[in-house]
Amino acid sequence: MVVRPARTDDPHEVRRLYDVCLRTGADGEDATARYRAPRLLGEIYLGAYLALEPDLAFVLDDDGAGDDGAGDGPLGYVVGARDTAAFEARCEREWWPALRERHPRDAFPAGSPDDLLVRMIHAPGTTSAPWLDDYPAHLHVDLLPAAQGGGNGRRLLETLFDALRADGVPGLHLGVSEANVRAIGFYEHLGLRRLPTPEGLVLGLPLR
Ligand SMILES: CC(C)(COP(=O)(O)OP(=O)(O)OC[C@H]1O[C@@H](n2cnc3c(N)ncnc32)[C@H](O)[C@@H]1OP(=O)(O)O)[C@@H](O)C(=O)NCCC(=O)NCCS
Repeated sequence: MVVRPARTDDPHEVRRLYDVCLRTGADGEDATARYRAPRLLGEIYLGAYLALEPDLAFVLDDDGAGDDGAGDGPLGYVVGARDTAAFEARCEREWWPALRERHPRDAFPAGSPDDLLVRMIHAPGTTSAPWLDDYPAHLHVDLLPAAQGGGNGRRLLETLFDALRADGVPGLHLGVSEANVRAIGFYEHLGLRRLPTPEGLVLGLPLR
């Protein structure tokens, strides 16, 4: 297994990463059966990072050594944004408009899982918190089951941490579902700690 920069200009690889996102998108479990539109999750949690912060996108590749049954390609990824507020502003200009055209508000039955994602595309949340200056970066990490539990999550995160440190970024945060107990244990084991937030669960890590 190798960790390498994502090939963000390779449509085959990008498709594969969207698939990894879907297959880990139900609190760490496979979300394929939950959504009618299989790319929506990736459009929200992956695509903008590949497009706008390509130098912070890394993948775990088995180097052609094996096949997990879903075809060749990376088994996982980490993506990040170095400055969350700037990233959100850039998404507003460069990422969401095309998706809003492609996915009108009434595209899916109200309240359905796809509808909830489409609502996020039309009204994405923004991050504002007193700790944002100290923890400005954020990330998403996902590994297919075949690649979990062997130190690969740690390797991906440490690769991103190094890239952010090299950039002088003082810290990072991430949001995680309370239901994803395994991921929370993983993040806390790597030193991330809870940050105050009015809703949900946000963990942070100083990088200096
Ligand atoms: C969460 C995830 C990224 C973790 O990656 P992983 O490869 O399974 O974890 P690793 O094997 O790299 O674990 C690294 C360290 O954390 C520890 N660890 C992992 N899970 C843990 C847990 N639940 N509780 C305590 N420690 C844990 C490991 O023992 C290991 O310790 P060591 O390096 O000191 O020996 C991965 O399981 C995954 O992608 N899950 C599905 C998608 C997901 O939930 N993504 C996160 C969404 S917020």
